[in-house]
Amino acid sequence: GELIKWNGQTDEVYSTISSIENYKPTLLGTIPHMDKDSALEVLDSACKAYAKGQGDWPTMKVSERISCMQNFVAEMQTNREEVVKYLMWEIGKSLPDSRKEFDRTVEYINDTIEDYKQLDRDSAKFFKRDGIHAHIRRGPLGVVLCLGPYNYPLNETFALLIPALIMGNTVIFKPAKNGVLLISPLLEAFKNSFPPGVVNVIYGRGREVAAPIMAAGKIDVLALIGNSKSAIALQDQHPYKNRLRLVLGLEAKNPAIILPDADLDLAIEECISGSLSFNGQRCTALKIIYVHEDVREEFNKRFAKKVDALKFGNPWEDGVKLTPLPEADKPDYIKELIDDAREKGAEILNEKGGEISENYIYPAVLFPVSKKMRVYQEEQFGPVVPIKPFTDIQEILDEMADSSYGQQVSLFGKDIQEIAPLIDTLVNLVCRVNLNSSCQRGPDVFPFTGRKDSAVSTLSVHDALRSFSIRTFVASKDN
Ligand code: G3H
Repeated sequence: GELIKWNGQTDEVYSTISSIENYKPTLLGTIPHMDKDSALEVLDSACKAYAKGQGDWPTMKVSERISCMQNFVAEMQTNREEVVKYLMWEIGKSLPDSRKEFDRTVEYINDTIEDYKQLDRDSAKFFKRDGIHAHIRRGPLGVVLCLGPYNYPLNETFALLIPALIMGNTVIFKPAKNGVLLISPLLEAFKNSFPPGVVNVIYGRGREVAAPIMAAGKIDVLALIGNSKSAIALQDQHPYKNRLRLVLGLEAKNPAIILPDADLDLAIEECISGSLSFNGQRCTALKIIYVHEDVREEFNKRFAKKVDALKFGNPWEDGVKLTPLPEADKPDYIKELIDDAREKGAEILNEKGGEISENYIYPAVLFPVSKKMRVYQEEQFGPVVPIKPFTDIQEILDEMADSSYGQQVSLFGKDIQEIAPLIDTLVNLVCRVNLNSSCQRGPDVFPFTGRKDSAVSTLSVHDALRSFSIRTFVASKDN
C-alpha cells in the first residue's frame, strides 16, 4: 500500500528449484525493503488502532472479534493451493507437508476461536472472598511485534499472530525472508476482515525495520520464533525492557536415546522422520542420537541404509522425502560440520552422505560423535545426523543437564516399569518426553515450550491466548 516506501534495496527471492537436471535456484521475484521511516509509520498505524487500549479493536465485543477472525479464516481457505504452491517453491517443502502446514494453520485458527469462546465463558464466573466479588477478565497487552521463521512461514507466524489478534492486541508482523511471498495471497483477506491498523506487515532486514520499531519503545510484546541471536538483538533495542513481554520459540538440540531393549524397527523409523523430515530444518528435529553399545552396530547399519533409500527431488514429486534447501549457505555449513567431525574421528556411515550440489546436501550419518565436534555443539538445523554411543545412561543425563537447551527428548525402550524413574528425571531436563516416538510440536493443543535457551513462554492454542493477554478484574463489595 502507500505506506511502503522503498529504501533502494531489495531482497531477491529465489525458488528452491529450477529443473530436475540442475538443482540451481532461480529468481522468483524481488521484495522491496521498507525504509526506517516506513517501518515507523507502520508502528504508528498499529499504535493508533490500539489507542492505548481505547481503540475499536481492543474494546470490541468478543463476539465481534470472533466474527472478524471467522471471516478471515473463510477467505484464507480460498487461497489454499496458491499458498501451498509458494511453500513448495520458496522453501522447498514437499507437497503433502505444504498442504499439512496450511490445513494445520486453519485448524489452529478454528481451535483458537473455540478456546477463546471458552475463555470468555470462564471469565463470566465470579469469585467471592471476604465479601468481595471479583469478575475476572482477560485483556490485551498492547502492540505486538511478531517475527516468524522460514521453516513454518505460515503456521508459526500465525501461531503468534492469531492469538495475539483475537485477544484484542494490534499486531505488526514480519514474515521470514524465505517465505515472504506466500503471505501475499493472504493480505487481501487481512484487509477485508480486520479494521485498518489492526494487522500490519513489514518487509526487509530485521535491523532496518524491526530494530527501529523496537527502539521507539512502544512495543508491548516481542513474539519471535527463530534464533536467540535475533531475539536478543531486538530486545536490546527496547528502551524500557521491563515493560516488554516475551513470547519466544528458539533453538533446541533434541536427543533420541536408544536403550538396549528398544524395538529397533520402530526406533529407526521414528529417528529417520524425526531427524530428517523437512531436511532436519525443524526446531523439534532430533539433532543427536545416543545409541546403547549393545545395539549400536545393528542400529547404525540399518539406519544408514534407510537414509540412503530416502528419495531426493522436487517438492511436488511423489514420495519425495528430501528437497533442496532454501538457505543458500546451508549446504556449505553442513559440509563444514561433516569435515570437522571427520577430522576429529567420526566416519560417514552412509554411502550418499555429504554428496553436495549448489543448494542441497545429502544427509550424512556421522559416528562416533564426541563432545569436541562442532556437530555436537551446534544446532545443525539441516541434513546431518550425529550418533553418539553410550553405556551408562547417566552420561546422557549429565550432557543434557549441561546443554544450553531443554525442549524435548525421544526415549526408545520396551520396559516401561524399568524406565519410569528415568522419565521422571528427563521431564526435569526438557518439557516433553516422547516415548517410542520422535519429537514434535503438535498436536497444537499440547503445550509447546522449552527450558533454558529453548523458549520463553508457552505456545499451544490454550497457552498462547494467555501468553498474549493479562488478567484484569472488576471488584465489587457486598452492600
Ligand atoms: O521449528 C520448529 C517447529 O515448531 C517444529 O514443529 O514439530 O510440528 O515440525 P513440528
